This record gives sequence, C-alpha cells and structure tokens, in this order.
Amino acid sequence: MAVRSQAANLPNCLYLETTNRCNLRCRTCIVYRGGWEPERDISLEEVRLISEQLPELERAVLHGIGEPLLNQDLPAMIRHLKDREVTVLFNTNGILLNDKRQAELIDSNLDELRVSLDAASPDGYKAIRDSDKFDLIINNLQTFAKRLESKKLSKPKLTLWFLGNKENITELPKLIDLAAAIGIGEVYMQRLVYFLDNEGFGVARSQNTLTNPDVAIYELIEQSQEQARQLGILFGASGLTAPVDSVRGKNGNRAPWKGCIRPWEVIYITAHGNVLPCCISPFSTMDYPSIILGNVFESTVADVWFGDKYRDFRKLHQTSTPPKCCRGCGICWSL
Ligand SMILES: C[S@@+](CC[C@H](N)C(=O)[O-])C[C@H]1O[C@@H](n2cnc3c(N)ncnc32)[C@H](O)[C@@H]1O
Ligand code: SF4
Ligand code: SF4
Repeated sequence: MAVRSQAANLPNCLYLETTNRCNLRCRTCIVYRGGWEPERDISLEEVRLISEQLPELERAVLHGIGEPLLNQDLPAMIRHLKDREVTVLFNTNGILLNDKRQAELIDSNLDELRVSLDAASPDGYKAIRDSDKFDLIINNLQTFAKRLESKKLSKPKLTLWFLGNKENITELPKLIDLAAAIGIGEVYMQRLVYFLDNEGFGVARSQNTLTNPDVAIYELIEQSQEQARQLGILFGASGLTAPVDSVRGKNGNRAPWKGCIRPWEVIYITAHGNVLPCCISPFSTMDYPSIILGNVFESTVADVWFGDKYRDFRKLHQTSTPPKCCRGCGICWSL
C-alpha cells in the first residue's frame, strides 16, 4: 500500500476544463444547481503552460463541467496538443456545432467528438436538458456526418453519449435508430452519478439511477444492444463494459473503487487551475474542498501530483473507507 500511495510517473491523461461556462442547464448536471467555481475560460497560454509540464501526455480530454465550444481558442488548443501527437477528444452538447465550427474542428485534427444526447426526441430532450435545441443538434450532426463522408475523413470520429437514468431510458431504442440514420457508428450509455452525502438535485438523485433496475429496464437495454448489433452500431458503456453489465451492481466486491487507476494516471484540471482526482468527483460529493488536491496556477503540476494531498488521497483510496467522492464508484455506478 505504501508503494501505491505515490505515483511513479507524471499523468499520461489530462482532463482540462477549457471553460466552465455553459449554454444549457441540464437537469443532471452540477450547472443546474449552480457550478462549483465562478465562470472562467482557460487561455491558450495556460494550455501551453500545463502541457509543457506533462512530458508523458498521451491523451487530452478537453471538457470538464461546461461547454467546450464556447471557448473560442479551442481549435488552437487542439492543434497545439496534436502537434505533440496527443490523442485529443471532448464532449459537447452540439448546439454550437455549426458549419464554421465543424470546419475548424476538422482542421485542428481533433481525434474524437463525443456528442451528449440524452434523448431521441424534442420532448425527451426538453425534459432532461430543458432545451428546445434538439432539432438544431440533429441537423448539426447530420451535416457534420455528411461533410466527413464527402471528404472521406475518418477524424474526428463522431460518437453519441446517452446519460441513462429512469427518466429517459425509454428513449434509448430510438437513439440507436437515430444514430444509424445519421451514420454515427458508436453509441455509449453513461452512468448517472449523484451526491451520496446529500439528497441531490434535478435528475441527479439516487432514485433515478439504473443500478440494479427492474426486469423491464434490463430487457429494454438488452433489446437496444441487439438492435445496435443488427444495425452494425457499436453500443458500449462508460467503464468499457456492455450497457447491460454497466447497470448491474457489483455486490460481490466490497471495495471496487480500489481497482480505479485514475489517481495514478489521470489529472483533472478545472478552469481555475484546481486539480481534482477525476471527472466523477465533482458529481459524487457535496464536499468540494475535499476533492481539490492542489492548484496548477499556484504551484507546478509535479508539485501537486507528487504532493502530500495527492499522496494522502491515494493512500485513503486504497482502503475500505475511501475519500468521500469515491464511495459510490463500482457500487452505485460502474467504474
Ligand atoms: C458535464 S458535461 C460537459 C461537456 C458538454 N457540456 C456536454 O454536455 O457534453 C460532460 C458529460 O457529463 C455528463 N453528465 C452530466 N450530468 C451527469 C451526471 N449527473 N452523472 C454523470 N454524467 C453526467 C454529460 O452527459 C456529458 O456527457
Ligand atoms: S451536461 Fe454539459 S451541456 Fe449540460 S449543463 Fe452540464 S456542462 Fe452544460
Ligand atoms: S471518484 Fe471514482 S473514478 Fe474518481 S478517483 Fe475515486 S474511485 Fe476513481
């Protein structure tokens, strides 16, 4: 355990909150209840400053909480990271994915664009994301898919990300059909994360989780898997599992979070430079100060990564009473 409390190397994966501003207030998201930090964008200069301190960087995910396409410097940030041969991707709600943005993202050499779509109809989208932009997003996706096809481009790979919960699960089969109709080859179901130390907010509440759902929901997910197979769509779940397995609670393992390797490989940096253990942590505990492990605008990345707070976090993470943010991982949502 003493060996695992320290990381051997600097992280090879960076999550960077390029902005924490958003053009939506989704009912699942921290933004809906009020973000953790004041609104701010990361600058290109700050991206350079951070990335030059990460010599082993292999993968950069350019979203945190907020909508990355609101940051005008995003294409330049992607180009900077691609010049270093880093794999670059990010999640977006797709609202700003107009012709100009599509062209910029292609030119930037982005590897993957993950579009979060928690519904397959305007009404379903309104219910979960409180927005009338469903048709606009679908139109953006259709034009982007056609543009990639007509130019015979394989990048950025377009994928759809569905945050599964009891309020929207009936939209899943239609989403698989929609992906096939647009020509998007991969759909993923995400786990709903919610505060374990509070009743939650909006949709992000324990009673809406799909973990150990009733038989009808299992069957619906299984049917969607079969439907995707027939349509030639890869249908997966976050945590690299099959969707139906991702909703199965892992009752056998009493401390599944111990298998998570993020504290040794992944660094998550907010728009204010705060370092968090991962993208789940701001959704899983109300105790935000407990997940701030340092700040890269106040000290070096290495000082934070190898510092006492991170070491203590890793040590506690390997026990049966882990940090508050980790307590639901592998139990309430798949890892
Ligand atoms: C916070 S958003 C930021 C990027 C972008 N604004 C978007 O919506 O894709 C990143 C991902 O978090 C997901 N998300 C939102 N609320 C969540 C929750 N309570 N649990 C798990 N994931 C959540 C979204 O569906 C999205 O795919
Ligand atoms: S899920 Fe994304 S689009 Fe929705 S409020 Fe959160 S950051 Fe904004
Ligand atoms: S909150 Fe979950 S994903 Fe994040 S470090 Fe803890 S166990 Fe890993």
